[in-house]
Amino acid sequence: MPPRHFRSIRDLSAEELDGLLDSALAIKRDGCGPELAGQVLALVFEKPSLRTRLAFEVAMYRLGGRAVYLGPHEVGAGSREPVRDIARVASRMAHGIAVRTFAHETVEEFAEWASVPVINGLSEAEHPCQALADLLTLRERFGSLHGVRLAYLGEGNNVARALAMASVLAGIDFRCASPEGYGLSEGDLDVARASGGPGRVTQTDDPREALRDASAVYTDVWASMGEEHTLEGRIESFAPFRLDADLLAAAPADALVMHDLPAHRGEEITDEVIESSRSVVFDQAENRVHTQQAVLLSLLG
Ligand code: CP
Ligand code: NVA
Repeated sequence: MPPRHFRSIRDLSAEELDGLLDSALAIKRDGCGPELAGQVLALVFEKPSLRTRLAFEVAMYRLGGRAVYLGPHEVGAGSREPVRDIARVASRMAHGIAVRTFAHETVEEFAEWASVPVINGLSEAEHPCQALADLLTLRERFGSLHGVRLAYLGEGNNVARALAMASVLAGIDFRCASPEGYGLSEGDLDVARASGGPGRVTQTDDPREALRDASAVYTDVWASMGEEHTLEGRIESFAPFRLDADLLAAAPADALVMHDLPAHRGEEITDEVIESSRSVVFDQAENRVHTQQAVLLSLLG
């Protein structure tokens, strides 16, 4: 039987998403035993990482196994050797492969050739592990995700796309506010809605409209890894979407502040807002390890 992968939020049903969040909450509360004793997770990363790498390494350690980090200089996916060879070699030695890639097609290629589960630790298209941690954070704060109103400011990027899909599955009202030309595409919205989940997803170019009634306000960098050279040309369009005290005042006074990190203070978010008592960014970061433990248990356990 081919292994199950976690390439995208699309790999989950609403019930599976809910089950992963239940499992992550239980792990956070009660800890877990060495259920993956003797197992190895290979981390094949084309880009830098703090949270994703550390969360996978800590998660495997807590589950009794271990992770082996293989950065761009060791592996050279596509240059030193083809992805299909890396996937087959790693499958002979490791029990799972977590990948962080530029092109999303690379994640798909790993999944096609690996005989062990492949987990997307961020691609240009999606950041599904981040979305799980974000939903866990919201669930902790609001009890239920049904009816939570999540406003996202900035590019309709990998983080926004995964959040949009996860929101629809979980019953969240997700509003993405982006400068014209930088939002989620109609195709992205269709894919998110196609899961048939109870949530909603909308795209606007008016940040204040998105923030009205918001339970939480989320933002991410204006130029993702690999796109840094485009930042200069974006600043003027993105400036009205900067999450500063003035823009945050358009949201209810108890709306939470979220960011996947790393943050560029002074660009997409001000120091004052990210350091405020409404900010849950370090809960989001911590929840990466609990949710990734849940994912590893479900795929490798
Ligand atoms: N949020 C996140 O994925 O962080 P890293 O890029 O540091 O892994
Ligand atoms: N959108 C960002 C997320 C980093 C965790 C990036 O891709 O660089």
